[in-house]
Amino acid sequence: MALQAFRGELLSVARDPRDCEDAVRHEPDGLLVVEDGIVVARGPFAELAPRFADVALEDLPGLVVPGFVDAHVHYPQMDRIASHGEQLLDWLDRHIFPAEKALAARAHAEALAQAFLTELLRNGTTSALVFATVHEHSVDALFEAALERGMRVISGKVLMDLGPEGLRDTPASGRAESEALVRRWRGRGRLGYALTPRFALTSSDEQLADAGAFLAEHRDVLLHTHLAENVHECAAVAQRFPEAADYLDVYDRFGLVGPRSVFAHGVHLGDRACSRLHESGAGIAVCPSSNLFLGSGHFDFGQADRHGVKLGLGTDIGAGTSFSMLHTAGLAYQAALAREDRLDTFRALYLATAGSARLLGIADRVGALEVGQEADFVVLDPASTPLLARRTRGAPLAERLFALQILGDDRAVARTYLLGRCAWQRTFS
Ligand code: GUN
Ligand code: ZN
Repeated sequence: MALQAFRGELLSVARDPRDCEDAVRHEPDGLLVVEDGIVVARGPFAELAPRFADVALEDLPGLVVPGFVDAHVHYPQMDRIASHGEQLLDWLDRHIFPAEKALAARAHAEALAQAFLTELLRNGTTSALVFATVHEHSVDALFEAALERGMRVISGKVLMDLGPEGLRDTPASGRAESEALVRRWRGRGRLGYALTPRFALTSSDEQLADAGAFLAEHRDVLLHTHLAENVHECAAVAQRFPEAADYLDVYDRFGLVGPRSVFAHGVHLGDRACSRLHESGAGIAVCPSSNLFLGSGHFDFGQADRHGVKLGLGTDIGAGTSFSMLHTAGLAYQAALAREDRLDTFRALYLATAGSARLLGIADRVGALEVGQEADFVVLDPASTPLLARRTRGAPLAERLFALQILGDDRAVARTYLLGRCAWQRTFS
């Protein structure tokens, strides 16, 4: 049995501070004991150290938080980040669909998958729910790379039988390829499958109905799609589905709304949809940098909270502008404030870790560094830039964390650990 002990300042938020007063767990001088990649003890160093006196001790210099969980991101889009000039539908046509067509070449998908996972680790992200492309092998490429690195990645082939030329499947091929991927990858490493219709506009009624049937047949599979991101998208959806009560209802009518459903964005939702999300157990991956970049609007935290909607946080690369979940948490604060809501800094950390993990159905495994969970964690350096150092010196925990969210990015990630093993170490000090 391989025992490891880590000493450092430990911080985690296992439950939503919205619903739970004592959600924040903080050990200013803590000990984390890991056995075969799993946390077996955690507590104040002075209390715990005598029990583990013979275990080799590694000091972690910085603020240690659970590995970040990115609840919505597109790996094929990473090289199209910062594409100028358009809102969602035109941006897809002009920048994104051409980029995704290039993944018809498997070697290109493999190279992108490797670069993408490296970028996640550089930013302290250890788990993610990831869009691939319509190509079956785009999922194989990502899963192979994630398996090799021991990362917790959930993904699936994109279903889009109404997509543009060169990025189209059919209901039959979409189903057969999804089936093949689930069979090939189920139970391997830390991987999971998400059925992934791109959004309501790129699938026929037949494909959406088929997706609902697939989801009912595969109880370990998530549903991952986009919802109510952009006003022009919402208008097009309303025009195509006049019988639906709202955008969410389109998915509901095809059996796609339930506790395993993850919807990205949800910027333009009514009370009916929020209430239905809560009742069904489905949740939203909030993507503030993307919403700002594409001019989509600001997520309404107040409305979501009034209905108790389950929330996580996503970068939505390539519409998002940073892989950093720290930076994304800082933008979530600013998006909330734009609607006169306050997002507590510990809640923002929750959304970037255990909240997203809960949304992805993996909160029993990751997100809070609790005993029994996998030892994925990040060492944050609150002095990674001269300005951060000035702002955080001598500051209380909440201020240091908030400064990291507002000023921090990949530079603030000194080390990233997967299952107790250092998988990324920043080279400058
Ligand atoms: N809606 C449908 N496809 C996409 C996509 O690739 N990115 C974003 N942000 N929204 C979408
Ligand atoms: Zn997206």
